[in-house]
Amino acid sequence: MTHLTEGGLSSVVVGVGSRLPKRIVSNADLQKSLDTSDEWIVQRTGIRQRHVAGEDEPTSKLGLGAAQAALADAGLSPDDVDLVIVATSTPDHTFPSVATQIQAGLGMTHGAGFDLQAVCSGFVFAVATADKFLRSGSHRRALVVGAETFSRLVDWTDRSTCVLFGDGAGAIVLEAQSREQAQGRGVLTTHLRSDGRHREKLYVDGGPSTTRTTGVLRMAGREVFRHAVGMATDVAEDAFAATGTNAEDLDWFVPHQANRRIIEASAEKLGVAPSKVVLTVDLHANTSAASIPLALSVAKADGRIKRGDLVMIEAMGGGFTWGAALIRW
Ligand code: COA
Repeated sequence: MTHLTEGGLSSVVVGVGSRLPKRIVSNADLQKSLDTSDEWIVQRTGIRQRHVAGEDEPTSKLGLGAAQAALADAGLSPDDVDLVIVATSTPDHTFPSVATQIQAGLGMTHGAGFDLQAVCSGFVFAVATADKFLRSGSHRRALVVGAETFSRLVDWTDRSTCVLFGDGAGAIVLEAQSREQAQGRGVLTTHLRSDGRHREKLYVDGGPSTTRTTGVLRMAGREVFRHAVGMATDVAEDAFAATGTNAEDLDWFVPHQANRRIIEASAEKLGVAPSKVVLTVDLHANTSAASIPLALSVAKADGRIKRGDLVMIEAMGGGFTWGAALIRW
């Protein structure tokens, strides 16, 4: 738990951006090669389409595009940033990290970059990590990126998983500001959890030290669904309790975009009005660590999220991992 009011610095969002692959695959497109239907997918998940990366669009390229867009939104150049944290489970290579690739793409030879892996909760974990770096005074500005190409991990013949995922990237720029400068803005609190006993419910069946292959995503969908709402709402309640706020104080609820039914059930359990829920799962499907910054980017661009708004981000994913953060935008 972190308290904005106790430290001398806070981590303020000064820019947001995104990058999606060019190719869009609709449910109707999937229907041509899979025993599925637009109706089944929309009814169970809310997903209507997903972007799928081409061979020339690896995770680092999408992440670089999102990072550049976030810097442009902030009116900053790569020289102004000294930390790059990338949340991803689909790196271009086992190593080096996507973060160092993005650093190089930006022309940065200063500062530090590293990847962080918490699957679909990755962006929340990355925001929490960057916030701690910035408030410690060790770094001044951080690019926090969620970038994924889950289309490379799914079995395209398994209708119970492949219809759910998509590719994309989103990024924010966080800046360390003094309390006087921040005037109450910034990351107010972060809450992270994990429990490795749930490994078998959502995992990839390969890896460098076991099969020496990338592997394929495996999921017990019903089991994941059963845990998702409780986990998401627990950490959201922790964030409210830590800041003395409640669902009515929220301007925007921006959860991980896995499934419309999970999002709506979570919002209802928390008492968040449907009008405050940012929903992009219909357009992007589940882009894992990229889904929250993509949704933030959409809601900022269309004028919903404004300076001073209270925004909650929240996610759960493989591991299980789960987490929430409250941000005064
Ligand atoms: N199209 C058509 N039918 C499908 C299908 C598809 N794409 N995928 C599965 N089905 C079928 C199943 O084969 C099953 O048929 P059967 O009854 O003849 O065996 C039927 O639909 C019901 O399957 P089930 O898995 O019980 O459906 P569900 O209502 O649990 O919905 C999910 C499946 C995956 C949509 C749902 O469990 C879910 O959203 N889980 C959470 C997944 C998630 O968000 N993971 C990421 C977390 S970060």
